[in-house]
Amino acid sequence: MRQEDICTHLGDLSERYLGAVTPPIFQSSLFVDCPNNENGKEGRFAYTRVSNPTTEIAEEKIAALEKGEKAKCFSSGMGAISAAIMHYVKGGCHVVGVASCYGPARRFLEDYLKKFNVSVTFVSGTDTNEIEAAITAATSLIYLESPSTYLFNLQNLREVAEAAKRHGVSTVIDNTYSTPIYQKPLEYGIDMVVHSTSKYLGGHSDIIGGVVVGKKEDIDQISLHERELFGAVMSPFDSWLLLRGIRTLSVRMAQHQENALEFVKHFAGHTSIKEIIYPWHESHPQHMLAKTQMSGCSGLMSLVFDLPPDTIENISRELRLFYEGPSWGGYESMFLPVGTKVEKDTDIVKKGMVRVHIGLENTETLIEDLEHAIAKCI
Ligand SMILES: Cc1ncc(COP(=O)(O)O)c(C=O)c1O
Repeated sequence: MRQEDICTHLGDLSERYLGAVTPPIFQSSLFVDCPNNENGKEGRFAYTRVSNPTTEIAEEKIAALEKGEKAKCFSSGMGAISAAIMHYVKGGCHVVGVASCYGPARRFLEDYLKKFNVSVTFVSGTDTNEIEAAITAATSLIYLESPSTYLFNLQNLREVAEAAKRHGVSTVIDNTYSTPIYQKPLEYGIDMVVHSTSKYLGGHSDIIGGVVVGKKEDIDQISLHERELFGAVMSPFDSWLLLRGIRTLSVRMAQHQENALEFVKHFAGHTSIKEIIYPWHESHPQHMLAKTQMSGCSGLMSLVFDLPPDTIENISRELRLFYEGPSWGGYESMFLPVGTKVEKDTDIVKKGMVRVHIGLENTETLIEDLEHAIAKCI
């Protein structure tokens, strides 16, 4: 099936649900044996912490989009990330991680896993040799995020997967930024994909959720251990909202990309902006790699302003359409001044950096909004 058709139709079997085009929310914790049930398939559900029919439709769609054998949903992206990591680590092992991965994922690797004596080496990830050189005899996992948080650094997924296999090491990638519409890491040999479905997959800023995708054997193990035992499962209602989001995923992603490109074209070379970090723009140092391993780009980027911190904060307050807040991937545009508190460039956040999400509003209105706010504040 083509990906637009997976988004819209896969798994929505209306003949099973009295002709309803939208599958019902199976808002039930418990499923009992039903002697008159002619369709044996339904009989396999028992308890929603283990599986739920509404959640399974979302899982089927996401597995097909990622070209994975199986997917399992969680109650948050961090629920999925921590489960995937716990699946691959054991006490005393070593992990190689991308330094600019999502903050709490980094904290999980760096701080939380200390109690299991797990050590971590962080790398920029932009050079596969750097990643391979960090592998030791104790390494069991390479944790990737491409493009990564704030800096949008890329890892060469094919090369990293090959290197990992040479050393018998497993690989997990956070693919939240690209979504399966624009990047399918399993096709390059990466072992497992994780997503925060709170972002583009949900797409309406009304759910918190996560998902892991990979080989059936790995996902079954995660279901049995990390998911059932920690219990961070997605609710039927959130699964239904996730399904609603996935139906329009491909068209939303195309629009986010078109709007972002128009926005970047306008602000590239702007006197108040030192740098725009966006993998689909030719100024990105890994633009060629982006074009090779991604088939498109999302609406998330960083702008590095050449302005004092107070001015950047004032610009943020002056904006009418952009909201200031920590999430992204919804229909709305966001402006988050992450670099106003830092004195100098750190390895993740640069001085004057603002994370911008370009939503589904009219791009001209967005451009006018930011131009007006800058003009008023400088
Ligand atoms: C790239 C990335 N991965 C994972 C997460 C975590 O997802 P959640 O907030 O659903 O736990 C986020 C949240 O901001 C994120 O930006």
